[in-house]
Amino acid sequence: MRELTKKLKEQSALITGANTGIGKAVAVALANEGANVVINYVSHPELAAGVVDEIKFNGGVAIALQADVSKEDQVQAMFQEMYEQFGTIDILVNNAGLQKDSSIEHMTLADWQLVIDVNLTGQFLCAREAIKEFLRRGIVAERSCAAGKIICMSSVHEVIPWGGHVNYAASKGGIMQLMKSMAQELAPKKIRVNSIAPGAIQTQINRNAWETPQALQSLLTLIPYNRIGQPEDIGKCAAWLASDEADYITGATIFVDGGMTLYPGFSTNG
Ligand code: BGC
Repeated sequence: MRELTKKLKEQSALITGANTGIGKAVAVALANEGANVVINYVSHPELAAGVVDEIKFNGGVAIALQADVSKEDQVQAMFQEMYEQFGTIDILVNNAGLQKDSSIEHMTLADWQLVIDVNLTGQFLCAREAIKEFLRRGIVAERSCAAGKIICMSSVHEVIPWGGHVNYAASKGGIMQLMKSMAQELAPKKIRVNSIAPGAIQTQINRNAWETPQALQSLLTLIPYNRIGQPEDIGKCAAWLASDEADYITGATIFVDGGMTLYPGFSTNG
């Protein structure tokens, strides 16, 4: 009975940067809904293998594939390998991303370029490959009423300016227009493209914002809901957004941020 209720049964999903953090939680959540998942990673194969083992232990299907999402040849090879193993792709979660923080006057071109290459160009390269396959294959009605679904992992910083992180904020602002423009172009082809914009989610990327009680206290002043987010908060949203329950949603950013984008500083001021 439970099998029948799985929202992503027999669909194939690729999640980039899925060996840790938000990507891992998204992969686990999609697998729990019946998707066969590719765990993409660029380093730490042992962590990717751990995610695969966890999913298999729970009765799911998962493989790990290494690729640097900012490299065209590696992305294309990864998709080919996925098609050999799973036949096709139904869901792409463009999650891989990183930060290289510094004040603008000290930001090197290399640190600017790396963040744009991985966070923004990587999403373009993976989306382009997935879209080619969605268009080639079209709708498979037994699996989904859409021909394909793309979820772009954005950030509250697609709208909240972030001093000291201009490369990161620029990459996320870019993702917003990449996502919306793809959604507009592809809606007539029944391909849905959306973003999830996480707020402060407790992972390694923002460890310094939660690892001491003082840091956490200061972070919580930015979060009206008064708790730090967990990767599973994003995983649950992604599993639903990829499913047919969200079939009329395209071109949207869903903020999963405990109210961080509600300008909490204005609740007692202004
Ligand atoms: C960043 C985190 C940060 C959060 C809220 C995320 O996109 O990666 O480092 O804590 O936004 O500011």
